[in-house]
Amino acid sequence: MDLSVDLGRGLVLPNPILVASGTFGYGIEYGDVVDVDRLGGICCKGTTLKARIGNPTPRVTETPGGMLNSIGLQNPGVDAVIEKYAGTWATWKSPVIVNVAGESVEDYVEVARRLDGVPGVAGIELNISCPNVGAGGLQFAIDAGAAGEVTGAVRRATDLPLLVKLSPNVSDIRPIARAIADAGADALTAINTLSGIALAPGRERPLLGNIYGGLSGPAVKPVALRVVYEAAQAVKIPVVAIGGVTELADVLDFLAVGAVAVQVGTAIFADPTLPERLVDELTEECGRRGLTAYRELIGTALPKKAGRPSSKGVEYRP
Ligand SMILES: Cc1cc2nc3c(=O)[nH]c(=O)nc-3n(C[C@H](O)[C@H](O)[C@H](O)COP(=O)(O)O)c2cc1C
Repeated sequence: MDLSVDLGRGLVLPNPILVASGTFGYGIEYGDVVDVDRLGGICCKGTTLKARIGNPTPRVTETPGGMLNSIGLQNPGVDAVIEKYAGTWATWKSPVIVNVAGESVEDYVEVARRLDGVPGVAGIELNISCPNVGAGGLQFAIDAGAAGEVTGAVRRATDLPLLVKLSPNVSDIRPIARAIADAGADALTAINTLSGIALAPGRERPLLGNIYGGLSGPAVKPVALRVVYEAAQAVKIPVVAIGGVTELADVLDFLAVGAVAVQVGTAIFADPTLPERLVDELTEECGRRGLTAYRELIGTALPKKAGRPSSKGVEYRP
């Protein structure tokens, strides 16, 4: 069964099941329980130019059908990440894609420069759901101009395959997806978490130390499906889906709305072996349907004719 996925610029995944950034550490943490070589790819924890200690606690709480987190990009900084982990990544069959975050275009560019050419680094995933300090804290991800600018600047700084991760916290994803594709991204990944809050016992203040957290897990899957459905029609580059995957049916749903691959996130905390099992189950499902390649499952739920309403505008009518 051919499960390989070409994300462009030479990044070919062995299969379409990846692990999502922030939920699988640097890939070595689950070493005893997960065979990383069976994964389609590993998106490592968010990496910044300088080390970050992260947000005040509490940083996580459970919600119906999901969780809120406000880790705040705790990480040792790009140089330490390269020194500690890249050597091990270079020995793995599965490509490691480094998730990159920053507070200015220059931050992103510098991290990308340092990752460029490092053996073991197969690609970059830009987490643009970060406040742009230079633009008064406005997130790169919610503005097509800022999203295109940071993508273009990183594109010029590195030859690494470049994935850019979309935020669902916008009114219309299409202009943003197009700006990122036009600026030279090789693929889009969608979605990052949804902004939310929870209350402390007693209701005198919000629960999380950072007040705001990111919602993830099965509760966000319909939003992720909608964003992937819209992005897949807006751009020609591949779209990788993320959001609430817990079983094969979720993988098949995301493929049907145009994703070429999926990332598993929150569900890994409950079952780190889920991604490997999904690879087996997808292979079996293709066999059962008499397919020789999983690609035939992609885009079956997209409008058959270009120019249908769903490719023109946001169709939500309450
Ligand atoms: C604890 C935690 C940490 C995360 N850290 C990052 C991160 O550093 N960078 C990033 O782009 N996304 C991060 N995410 C978002 C996930 O990669 C994913 O986009 C999101 O959780 C939706 O997928 P899921 O519902 O399968 O978890 C994090 C999610 C969680 C739950």
